[in-house]
Amino acid sequence: MTLRATGQVLGALGVCATIAICTLYGGRSTAQSVKDGQAQAESSASPIYGIAIPAGYRDWRLISVKHLTGAEGKLKQLRAQLGNHLAIEAFQAGTLPFPDGAIIAALHWNEVSSDADNKVLAEGFPGAGLESSFAGFAVNVQFMVKDSRKYRASGGWGFADFTSGKPGNEALHQTCFPCHEPAKDRDFVFTRYAPTP
Ligand code: HEC
Repeated sequence: MTLRATGQVLGALGVCATIAICTLYGGRSTAQSVKDGQAQAESSASPIYGIAIPAGYRDWRLISVKHLTGAEGKLKQLRAQLGNHLAIEAFQAGTLPFPDGAIIAALHWNEVSSDADNKVLAEGFPGAGLESSFAGFAVNVQFMVKDSRKYRASGGWGFADFTSGKPGNEALHQTCFPCHEPAKDRDFVFTRYAPTP
């Protein structure tokens, strides 16, 4: 895989982990960037799918959490998947395919080691080597919106990716559906409902 392709895949996963990777991903021609900038200024919705950030998504219920690492240790992300009520009900009942109106949100943060918590843990459990980390700055948020008619060409799902409230470009959004195809037998959704502790 070329460096540029790697940058695009990482970008698609929402992982501008390092300035180096961001630079790689952002390293398109100036003309293209200007064009993208204009397109984005015109719309706060994702290209191709026309999805805006759903109101109130930050208060949706938890589906699961994930931990993503890579780029030789430079990338460390904590991830939460949340669902609106239609998505949560479908996960809980094991309903497939997901009903129209279901929305899944994927929130991605930079993982930060918590020195303050580690100090307390080291005192409480000497020698255990416990290390705690937390969600630092927000990297991006992604959505999958189910509308089986509108998004027929992409498995019934519309895709959207936002960084600092701004949608990613069209090239990024072209990568979404093809990469979700391996999860076809679960309606293109990778995440499974986490057990209740
Ligand atoms: C390189 C492959 C790949 C690309 C490209 C990709 N995804 Fe995903 N996506 C995954 C995988 C694997 C997961 C589950 C693992 C994780 O979340 O870390 C996932 C999880 C998700 C989830 C949580 C629901 C689920 O299926 O588990 C959403 C929402 C999502 N992606 C949206 C998007 C959007 C929007 C785009 C395009 C901007 C996109 N994805 C591009 C592979 C990809």
